[in-house]
Amino acid sequence: MSVVKKRETFSSGLAVFFATLGSAVGLGNIWKFPYLTGQNGGGAFLLVYFCCILFVGLPIMLSEFYIGRKTRKNAVGALEQLKPGTSWKNIGLMGVSAACIIMFFYSCVAGWVYFYLFKAIVGDFVGVTLEVAKAQFGAVIMGPLSPIIWQFIVLAVVAGILTMGVKQGIEKITKTLMPLLFVLIVICDIRALTLPGAAEGVKFLFHVDFGQLSAAAILAALGLAFFKLSLGMGTMMTYGSYFTEDNNMFTTALKVALSDTLVSMLAGLAIFPTVFSFGMEPTAGPGLLFMTIPLVFSQMPLGNILLIAFFFLTAIAATTAMLSLVEVPIAYLSEERGMSRKSAAILTATIMFVVGILATLSVDKASVLGHITFFGMGFFDLFDYISSNILLPIGGLLIALMMGYSIKREEVVTELSNNGKMKVAALVNVYFFLIRYVTPLLLIVVFLSSIGVLKF
Ligand code: PFF
Repeated sequence: MSVVKKRETFSSGLAVFFATLGSAVGLGNIWKFPYLTGQNGGGAFLLVYFCCILFVGLPIMLSEFYIGRKTRKNAVGALEQLKPGTSWKNIGLMGVSAACIIMFFYSCVAGWVYFYLFKAIVGDFVGVTLEVAKAQFGAVIMGPLSPIIWQFIVLAVVAGILTMGVKQGIEKITKTLMPLLFVLIVICDIRALTLPGAAEGVKFLFHVDFGQLSAAAILAALGLAFFKLSLGMGTMMTYGSYFTEDNNMFTTALKVALSDTLVSMLAGLAIFPTVFSFGMEPTAGPGLLFMTIPLVFSQMPLGNILLIAFFFLTAIAATTAMLSLVEVPIAYLSEERGMSRKSAAILTATIMFVVGILATLSVDKASVLGHITFFGMGFFDLFDYISSNILLPIGGLLIALMMGYSIKREEVVTELSNNGKMKVAALVNVYFFLIRYVTPLLLIVVFLSSIGVLKF
């Protein structure tokens, strides 16, 4: 006998906003966005990034919301219901796979963040020098046991929250933690911006230099918009399926994109003035976050408290983003495969942990599994490449094509206008123009260039 359970939804517009923003805000804001902006022409890059959000990000986000809320199903079930018996449902299966593959390496980096938070709390960074900070980062990533243990803790926390369900888990956590993240980041900003020489860092982030705006920079902006807004892997479809009936999905998409960009800029304003004030190199990626930040914060008054605040906010960002990633397979397994939410969470987290270990043990060439490579990439880089450069853009492109060419306009109008309660005709026209012509074209260019077929 099958028991039909009532499907959960978020309880208010505010809950929808914080959960969706929680998915968008993640590790991407804290190192990827500021670094790319600084390196690719500052203000000029920001301008391109905004265009990418407007012409690609928002239309795809809206499409995913539409698919989710109209069907009230997980990524696979949603597409099966929308286009029964067709192969469009493979977009959903691709999404479930992409979410898992991203988690294989995202949970590893999140493990380092949790570990750093712990180290900051116990005072491990007090008075460190650059050599010590570098050695500490090396020890953390090389492990081999400790990064695996922290990865396990991360996955246990995420799966534990998700087991509690949509309202008691995702909604409660994101509604509490997102405002806290905002407060912590503003505190770090105030400290960073009042340091001597902070202006250099602000200049690095916001100078407008169109000369640096190469084709590669434009592609980087497009890829970033995609990753930042958690698009192309069923995440926003799954969250959309929990949206309230009366949610204005146009404004939700816009508010989330703007707030996410604001958080990225605030993160840049906390990091770069500090880095410049201490005469450090604004180097790329995890190195910046994990080596420079402990060093610079440890050298200023109240440094250790700020350091704890900084890694706490980074841990919040990473965790709320992971909630949305892990929810994709959990919703699929529990709705399509008849598993309970709890068993689905345990199974998903176990798979992510076991395969994720491969990523954790191959971060560096000298890591335990660092010698195993595919096309010159270790597991960690391979998972990143397959998901970010292949599955996400293809997922996004297929969503755009399906929405633009295979869904009836009236159905979209009905859903996006909340059954005629809102006047959206003009906005829907803009949406269809973008999703039919502009978005797919831009995505094809990015995809071909990211796999090296198109060269600029
Ligand atoms: N948007 C997250 C970030 O910027 O860190 C990453 C992410 C989360 C990507 C969720 C994809 C996703 F489904």
